[in-house]
Amino acid sequence: MARTVAEGFFNDPRLKEAKKLIREALKEHQTKITGIKSADPELKASYDNIIKKVSDYRGGALWYNYLGSGIGNGPLVELADGSVKYDFITGIGVHYMGHSHPGVIEAQVEGSITNTVMNGHLQQNTDTAKLLEIFSTQACKYGAEVKNVFLTTSGAMANENAFKMMFQKRFPAARMFSFEKCFSGRTLGMAWVTDKAAYRQGLPKTIDVDYVPFYDAKDHKGSIEKAVYAMKKAMTRFPGEHAGFIMELIQGENGSWVGNQEYFEALIKICKENNISVFIDEVQTFARTTEIFAFQHFKLDKHVDIVSVGKNSQVCATLFKDDHKPRAGLMSQTFTGSSAQISAAYYVINEVVNGNYLGENGKIMKLHKHFQSHLEKLATKYPDKIEGPYGIGAMVGMTLYKGDAEKSKAFSFKLFDNGVLGFLAGAAPTRLRFLMPIMAVEEKHIDEVVAILDKTLSEIN
Ligand SMILES: Cc1ncc(COP(=O)(O)O)c(C=O)c1O
Repeated sequence: MARTVAEGFFNDPRLKEAKKLIREALKEHQTKITGIKSADPELKASYDNIIKKVSDYRGGALWYNYLGSGIGNGPLVELADGSVKYDFITGIGVHYMGHSHPGVIEAQVEGSITNTVMNGHLQQNTDTAKLLEIFSTQACKYGAEVKNVFLTTSGAMANENAFKMMFQKRFPAARMFSFEKCFSGRTLGMAWVTDKAAYRQGLPKTIDVDYVPFYDAKDHKGSIEKAVYAMKKAMTRFPGEHAGFIMELIQGENGSWVGNQEYFEALIKICKENNISVFIDEVQTFARTTEIFAFQHFKLDKHVDIVSVGKNSQVCATLFKDDHKPRAGLMSQTFTGSSAQISAAYYVINEVVNGNYLGENGKIMKLHKHFQSHLEKLATKYPDKIEGPYGIGAMVGMTLYKGDAEKSKAFSFKLFDNGVLGFLAGAAPTRLRFLMPIMAVEEKHIDEVVAILDKTLSEIN
């Protein structure tokens, strides 16, 4: 007997049947997508027209001439011009499950037939409880204490919320530490944290940040010394003024630069001695290393005060320790995420932590090694064109044409035309990078992507 009307509705056999039919129809259609394909010439005119319309209405051209048709098959995505491409950038790291994943579609259907489109802090459904619990228990499983979870709708907003909590706790300290070349988002606050002048041109100053040079694997000891020196120098110049340190453990937007445990610990030690909060920005690193959180991969569990997540998690969030709890009034959100999003987020995270993805021998690292070994061979074949590969797990980068921005850009467009979506990151050097849809990728897909990279390298000098 159903105890609520909802229980009766969600267990209605007609819904079960409807979900089965969706699965069947999806499978029948998506299995027609078997490999990369050129555009249908008959669709060209209408496709170009929609691309132009979107560009005009959004007030600027799209980066790639990409508009999805609405269906895909794992790492393959169909565009509205009928072409099929390998998606190895996944909306800059969002479609971790690939395209049209049946489990994710079912989770979204379950969410979307609930009573509301959006959840917010005043009204949420019970699905939210499941999501908060999995975030919290996974984050704290090795001893971290960031058990509180505040949902939000973008990575930048998750970072804003973290900054508010740190500033309130450390008041009147009002400066922040960050890493050189970091990317933290583009809100008015985060534009002043992200270490790129072009992203804040014309904007009024919001946050004072002192930048610390990031880890350099080629100079392990020296880079630790340089970073410690930079921190101490800023603290001497502004005594007692630093509220927190935002740390990206693997710099994604800068081109897949990987940090180091000893390096982070040296900086965290200074934070702890000086009441500076340790904030790990995992918007890009979540679910891409040997652990669900990169701070677990680098064994920083006992040091973290706040963590933000986004992208792969489908819903963004800020996790924080009890002692960083905001006072009433500091934070709220009308939108914490759509019902479909919350349901899909739980599905994806549950799949990653309970499937064979994590660990040194999990799917994430296995695929990385496979990709890496192929790219190393390409680097040997084209020594003047490729350096690398770099990165870890689901984050893979390489320097092309000595990091020349224009040549790398030309390469990325040619690669797109040849059937693979990758993207650029960083400046001096600019890198080409991939954020793989791990849940959908198999080694044979990587082999095909590498063959297309090879072809593209042979075409561009
Ligand atoms: C490390 C990091 N932090 C924050 C953000 C901002 O996230 P969003 O674009 O969802 O606001 C990004 C996005 O690329 C990111 O990589």
